[in-house]
Amino acid sequence: MCGIIGILSRQGVASDRVMESLRRLEYRGYDSAGIATLADGKLDRRRAAGKLSNLQSLLNETPIAGSIGIGHTRWATHGAANTKNAHPHVSGSVALVHNGIIENFRRLRTELEAAGHVFETDTDTETIAHLIAARMNGGNDPVAAVKSALTELEGAFALSILFEGHDDLLIGARKGSPLVIGVGDDEMFLGSDALAVAPFTNRVIYLEEGDMCVLSHNAFQIFDAADQEVIRPVALVQSAGATVEKGNYRHFMQKEIFEQPDSTARTISAYVDALEQSIELPGDDNAIDWSEITHLHMVACGTAYYATCVAEYWFEQIAGLPVKTDIASEFRYRQPALPQKGGLALFVSQSGETADTLAALRYCKEAGLKTAAVVNVPTSTIAREVDLVLPTLAGPEIGVASTKAFTAQLCALAATVIAAGKARGTLSRDREIALVKALNGVPRLISESFALDDPIAELARDLSKARDVIYLGRGVHFPIALEGALKLKEISYIHAEGYASGELKHGPIALIDEETPVVFVAPHDDLFDKSLSNLQEVAARRGNVLLISDKEGLEAAGDTPAQMIEVPTCDAFIAPILYSLPVQMLAYHIAVEKGTDVDQPRNLAKSVTVE
Ligand code: AGP
Repeated sequence: MCGIIGILSRQGVASDRVMESLRRLEYRGYDSAGIATLADGKLDRRRAAGKLSNLQSLLNETPIAGSIGIGHTRWATHGAANTKNAHPHVSGSVALVHNGIIENFRRLRTELEAAGHVFETDTDTETIAHLIAARMNGGNDPVAAVKSALTELEGAFALSILFEGHDDLLIGARKGSPLVIGVGDDEMFLGSDALAVAPFTNRVIYLEEGDMCVLSHNAFQIFDAADQEVIRPVALVQSAGATVEKGNYRHFMQKEIFEQPDSTARTISAYVDALEQSIELPGDDNAIDWSEITHLHMVACGTAYYATCVAEYWFEQIAGLPVKTDIASEFRYRQPALPQKGGLALFVSQSGETADTLAALRYCKEAGLKTAAVVNVPTSTIAREVDLVLPTLAGPEIGVASTKAFTAQLCALAATVIAAGKARGTLSRDREIALVKALNGVPRLISESFALDDPIAELARDLSKARDVIYLGRGVHFPIALEGALKLKEISYIHAEGYASGELKHGPIALIDEETPVVFVAPHDDLFDKSLSNLQEVAARRGNVLLISDKEGLEAAGDTPAQMIEVPTCDAFIAPILYSLPVQMLAYHIAVEKGTDVDQPRNLAKSVTVE
């Protein structure tokens, strides 16, 4: 996901302010960056591949003047991650930065080249700059030129656009990618999110789908998709000026792993009525009547998808509700047979901006389903389009690899399952109290699991040498095995696969040898004996077994596993939440051993706002 900032001001040094904002957007993941400013009406530009430090060095060597500027961190979609393709892109008097994908850019580029436009880059974005310049060459002023060009773009965009010769004008537009206006004192801003403009203002306007805005230094106009001028509310956001810092931690991911007692406690507190020992779902009580729901479809991507896979077991076992889970990028193309009535679509997304998940949401709304979403950003697009928001209160998650958001998602889903079971009459009062009690114990148990950090760091030394790693789990821990494998591969770049333990014999067991670590995620629950059989099958083939279990499980396994991690004994209901911690810590320490970029792993973005 790219990062965008635009600054329209008569004070300050635009290049310093743009760089400060881009540093707050680094967490989104990127592979090049750039800035353009207006000084005395003249456009100037600096761009650099790689980290922001490269752009900063270039600016130190060749400073760029002006109090007006736009900046961008690019996560390459079309065209290599190099300086040539870095934003801002320029055509004539137009300079712009873009987040999204223009799907019809090749046809537009061909037409523009035929009209004499000369392209310098391999990007879809440059086409937008030429299209606007072409409309201006045709006699349109900048506002009319942008409006005309936007009608020809297919795909997703968030844009911030400057014009040479117009030093009191900044134009923005959003379709499919988020964009906010920051309202300052005699200055205006455009940003990908509230964090981008946080150094300058806490007054933020969230543009709606299809909006376009025209800013001057002390005023703004917003036009909706039908080109009608509209008023959008100005929100006061908390994070103004607040910077998310690592504190004493080595990485944001490490900090966020250790924040999980707090992040789960905050999330649980938003759902649990401690006095009544019951669940009160946040939001409008009447948004969803769980007693009328007959089919639950859960849709998400990546780690968030694994949270839905855990919740599938819970909804079916505790609330007796038939569930189908889908990877968002597959869901709508599968043409699912959605029920005419009684259907609920539940989406899980940390950012609330993931393009595939958002597209699946709109598909379900089109089909008439009720919709709900577990999101960590209450102002996100997904949060603003569902019938019911089920918030996670994990706070900003900066590490690209999701940790505290995942366990917060599981807490929110666990609470929702209890509420659904109660509403559907499948949960006795005693059982409800027991489940709420187990949920309330999660923060403490997570704190206790931190004692594992040093022993896991020790194990990581050897495991970091592995070429392939297999994660195995049964029942509700199969998704935790999948999540453990994803964590490892996305930050250490070691190939890892998650499998259902029972599936091993149907092929993957051929992979077992003494070089391949096999990580079993297996608390001593109803399925443990079966997991132990699978573990012994692996050991019998000289597999290098690491068993993650509780005291009882490790005793039952005896000396069969080569290595062990003892997790605090806990209620089976919340075990998947707790067992997320050792697989997170294992991935983290292995990545540190490997020396990879733990917080911004190669090729990855924090939120994938393109399909
Ligand atoms: C998780 O470690 C990954 N960074 C990734 O799979 C992520 O969970 C996925 O892209 C979904 O993002 P979202 O929760 O913001 O929708």
